[in-house]
Amino acid sequence: MERIVLVTGGNRGIGKEVCRQLAGLGNKVFLGSRNKKKGDKVAAELGEGITAVELSVSNDEDIKHAVDLIKREHGRLDVLINNAGVYIGSSGLLKPDIESIRDTFETNFYGPIKLNAAFIPLLRKSKEGRIINISSGMGAIDDLHGNYAAYRMSKVGLNAQTIILARELEGGGIKVNAMCPGWVRTDMGGSGASRSVEKGAETAVWLATESKIPTGKFFRDKKVIPW
Ligand SMILES: NC(=O)c1ccc[n+]([C@@H]2O[C@H](COP(=O)([O-])OP(=O)(O)OC[C@H]3O[C@@H](n4cnc5c(N)ncnc54)[C@H](OP(=O)(O)O)[C@@H]3O)[C@@H](O)[C@H]2O)c1
Repeated sequence: MERIVLVTGGNRGIGKEVCRQLAGLGNKVFLGSRNKKKGDKVAAELGEGITAVELSVSNDEDIKHAVDLIKREHGRLDVLINNAGVYIGSSGLLKPDIESIRDTFETNFYGPIKLNAAFIPLLRKSKEGRIINISSGMGAIDDLHGNYAAYRMSKVGLNAQTIILARELEGGGIKVNAMCPGWVRTDMGGSGASRSVEKGAETAVWLATESKIPTGKFFRDKKVIPW
C-alpha cells in the first residue's frame, strides 16, 4: 500500500532520515521544511517520491497551504509525523527563561496541536490514519529531572496531547502515538550521541507502516514505555 505521508522538520536530522526510509518503502512523502529552498534541495538529494512543502509549524498560513496541497493532490493523508522540534534554553524553574519556554512551546507543543487538528479531516479519509508525535524520554513524567525545563515540559505536553487525541479518536480508525528516538547524532543530539539517525528513525517508520499497532501509547525501540 502506498501511503501519503507528511513529516514536519524533514530537511535535516531524524526527520530527513524518516523521509528517506519511508520513500524507500514506496510511500509518497511530503517533506515539511520551514525554508523551502533547503527543503527542495534535500528532497532532490533524497530522490524519488519526495516533495518539499514550505511548512513552519508555527505559521497558520503554511499549515493551511500544506492541507490544501495534499487535499488537492491526494484527497487524503495516511500518516502525519510531528517531528519538528527545538531544544533551546537549559534553565530550570528557579530562574525560568520565559522566552525560551514560549518559543519551545510554539514549535514542540502548539505546532502539533494545530497540525493534528488541521489534518484530521484528511486523515479521516485514510483507511489507516496515523499520527506519530516525536517526543522524548525527557518528557517522561516518571523520569523528570531539573533544568532544560522548556524542553521537558513541552514534551510532557506533547505526550498529554497524544493520549487526549487518541481517546477522542478512539474507534474512528486514526491511531495516535508518541515515540522517543533515543539519543541521536543530529544537530540537536550532538556528535557524542549514542545512536545513528537510521536507528533514531526506526520506530517512527515502524509506527507508520506496521499493520497492528495500538493507539495512545509511548514507544521506544518498537516497545511501549511508561509515560
Ligand atoms: N536528537 C536527539 O537525541 C533527540 C532525542 C529525543 C527526541 N528528539 C526529537 O526528535 C525530533 C527531531 O530532532 P533532531 O535531533 O532531528 O533535531 P534537529 O537535527 O535539530 O532538526 C530539527 C528539525 O526541526 C525543524 N524545526 C524546528 N522548528 C521548526 C518549526 N517551527 N517549524 C518547522 N520545522 C521546525 C528544523 O528546521 P530548520 O532546519 O529550519 O531549523 C529541523 O528540520 C525533535 O522533535 C526532537 O525533540 C531528538
